[in-house]
Amino acid sequence: MSHNFQRSPGVVNLRLWENAERASNYVAHQIAELIIAQQKIGESAVLGLATGNTPKAVYQELVRLHRHDGLSFANVVSFNLDEYYPILPGDKNSYNYFMHEHLFKHIDIAPENIHIPQGNCATDAVSELCSDYEAKIAGVGGLDLQLLGIGRNGHVGFNEPGSTLDSTTRLVELHPVTRNDAQADFGSLDRVPVQAISMGMATIIQAKRILLLALGERKSEIINKAINGAITPEVPGSMLRHLPHVEYVVDREAGAGVL
Ligand code: PGA
Repeated sequence: MSHNFQRSPGVVNLRLWENAERASNYVAHQIAELIIAQQKIGESAVLGLATGNTPKAVYQELVRLHRHDGLSFANVVSFNLDEYYPILPGDKNSYNYFMHEHLFKHIDIAPENIHIPQGNCATDAVSELCSDYEAKIAGVGGLDLQLLGIGRNGHVGFNEPGSTLDSTTRLVELHPVTRNDAQADFGSLDRVPVQAISMGMATIIQAKRILLLALGERKSEIINKAINGAITPEVPGSMLRHLPHVEYVVDREAGAGVL
């Protein structure tokens, strides 16, 4: 596979691929290599996982590697970034449902190793759920690799504009752009939850490695802002860019404005 790897001014790790398939395959193979490397030393691979349209082809490739190349997920422990609140785990729009449909039901991950914030947790139990989530991540030695998408408003996970680098897993209010983008899935805007539980920026940046994937023309404006604009909590995806362990993995369309 051919690709460009470049450090643009300001030391941004940008990996630009000619199309979405290659970008997605690159990410899937980075994940697979981590899983295999950890298997070789008898360790688990702790993955931070994302939902949305962006990672679908990554999961498809991981499922293919499981079916055709014998990639086992038996040593994988996963933590999803976020979940709508409130939502039932079986709701077709829940991220719990998404993850099972796109990945978990097709692979051999142990059910007890799957962690997704519980969208139907009682209101008075949410803050304990959030601190438990942080403790569970810390308890397995932290995230080895975090996969991220980016919203058109710059959010990562559901860290909406205004999220600071010290934020941890918490209940958040969804931004109007986020709710608008989710409206097609839910059928109408009023059915889109107004809140979510999300890992924080601090949770995310503690991962040993972060791959932020952005695909397609509709992400080009925000990718340009995240990489070339101000580093600001107003664009949470911009705050990752000087971290040496973060790579922005973009296809040609998403990267069109960057270079
Ligand atoms: P998308 O969402 O992959 O559906 O574009 C990305 C995100 O909001 O993080």
